[in-house]
Amino acid sequence: MRTPFVAGNWKMYKTVHAAVAFAKEFRSVVKDITGVEIVVAPPFLAVHAVADALRNSNVAVAAQDVYWEKEGTFTGAVSAPMIKEAGAELVIIGHSERRRLFGETDQTVNRRLLAALAANLGPIVCVGETLEEREANRTLDVLDRQVKVGLDGLTAEQIADLVIAYEPVWAIGTGKVATAVQAEEAHAHIRSRLRQWFGANAADHCHVVYGGSVKPDNIAELMREPDVDGALVGGASVDVRGFSDIVIRSQVSKRS
Ligand code: 13P
Repeated sequence: MRTPFVAGNWKMYKTVHAAVAFAKEFRSVVKDITGVEIVVAPPFLAVHAVADALRNSNVAVAAQDVYWEKEGTFTGAVSAPMIKEAGAELVIIGHSERRRLFGETDQTVNRRLLAALAANLGPIVCVGETLEEREANRTLDVLDRQVKVGLDGLTAEQIADLVIAYEPVWAIGTGKVATAVQAEEAHAHIRSRLRQWFGANAADHCHVVYGGSVKPDNIAELMREPDVDGALVGGASVDVRGFSDIVIRSQVSKRS
């Protein structure tokens, strides 16, 4: 059984002060929750301070991106060992906003992923189709390409520990959540490819989480699907009450 995994991606919201204030309040609200992996992903500047504020709590910290070189003349870039030392345990890779606005490709996703794993950071790899791709019936082909190229070179053991976030681009920040049936179709497809390419153990252990307009009132329905293992939450994760409600409601019993 895969433990529910719920991560909040704060994107470019919250100063260091606001991020630490959230962390302090949030850790006390969720301190008794067990059986859910809880993660927050602040902007880079706040990673260190938030990790300090969440030390010895049940909430882990993720960065939102990573560069593949360890150090060097790469102005503006942040490496995996730097993120790790700052106190984060995970990193989001290949978010659609990085793909659309910052030139991320499946190949650069793969380079970042290998660098994150080498530094012992847990990757959360984002995939998902645009509206145009969905309307052209290309969703599953796009997912195949993103998963195949993005995860190239990983071992079955690394896949087993991975988190893949299925985030249909048309559902991000639009209030237009994928139906549970649409989410399950994509998640089951991804898992079937993992089974084909990396074996049953990898496919059964890998977390496939959903992202795109997740809110307290739709998380339970999504989580009831057998292949939905959690959520990557954007807008609804910047508010302590809303995000903790989502975490609590992610613990639903699964249809078998
Ligand atoms: P929203 O929850 O705001 O739609 O964002 C989803 C997302 O992009 C999480 O990474």
